[in-house]
This record gives sequence, C-alpha cells and structure tokens, in this order.
Amino acid sequence: MSLLPILEFPDPRLRTKAAPVEAARITDPGFQRLLDDMFETMYEAPGIGLAASQVDVHQRFMVIDVSEDKSDPQVFINPQILAKAGEQVYQEGCLSVPGIFADVTRADQIDVSYLDRHGQPHQAQVDALLAVCIQHEIDHLDGKLFVDYLSPLKREMVRKKLAKQRKLAAD
Ligand code: NI
Repeated sequence: MSLLPILEFPDPRLRTKAAPVEAARITDPGFQRLLDDMFETMYEAPGIGLAASQVDVHQRFMVIDVSEDKSDPQVFINPQILAKAGEQVYQEGCLSVPGIFADVTRADQIDVSYLDRHGQPHQAQVDALLAVCIQHEIDHLDGKLFVDYLSPLKREMVRKKLAKQRKLAAD
C-alpha cells in the first residue's frame, strides 16, 4: 500500500464533477488497490472520509470510517441520496482544506444507495456523523467543498490562511 497525495483548496481539479464507476472496474485489482491506498491515506492523515476526487481520481466513490478505532472501513461506490430529513450543524474539516474547521448545516438523516467494494448494491438509512460524512464526500464528487457553504469573505480568508501555511512550510 502507499500514501496518495491529497489535492488542496483552491486546486481547480477539486472542482471536477466525477463520473460514475463502471461495474466492470470494481473487481479490477488496480481499483481494489486504489481503495486500500485511499484507506491508508485517510487513516494516516488522519481523517474520517476521503473522496476519490481528493486524490485526483474523478470517479464517484469514497472511503469512510467514522469509528473511534478504525474498525469500520466502508466503501461507497456511485452513492446516491434518495431522501433527506431534518437538519444538523456539525463543525466540519476536510483533508483538502487542512487546519480549517467551520459549522455546516446538513440533513440529519439520509437514505443512501451505493455499491460496496465488491459491487454489491445496498440501501441504508443513516444519521449523525455518518450522514454528515456521506453528504460531505458526495459534495466532493460533485466538485463542491465545505468552504463553499461559507460567505465569500470567509472563504477568501481560508484561501489566504492556507497560502500562508504553505509558504511557512516551504521556508
Ligand atoms: Ni473533504
């Protein structure tokens, strides 16, 4: 396994709308290895979710583990939100926007359909943190970032802060 480079805001590649994964690709050993690499990259970061878009693969899938002890790795391929209910506010962060956290309002409960890493179809009703995470990662697949929910002024502050962090890291 190997760690993958993660694209960071405001990289324009993060704005790409991802294409559906073709069923035949799921069983491909290269695809399975990519999933393992994405888990390793996410755990190492550390984070609780990583969309393919963030590692410059513009197809609709993501890895998620919201457990405390890395015991619940979940793969969502071609995820679709079928229904949404309620509202929750969660202070989100993102591996593509390092060190920045902000409150985002999302649906509290969602019905989601997806394929797992073996290509098996599932439909689930999820809530709480997993619901936040799935909505956040699907946004990535649509080329959207959590900072898009902030005001333009605040988003510009985020961009400047990240540019400053990068400059400090490079000096
Ligand atoms: Ni993210």
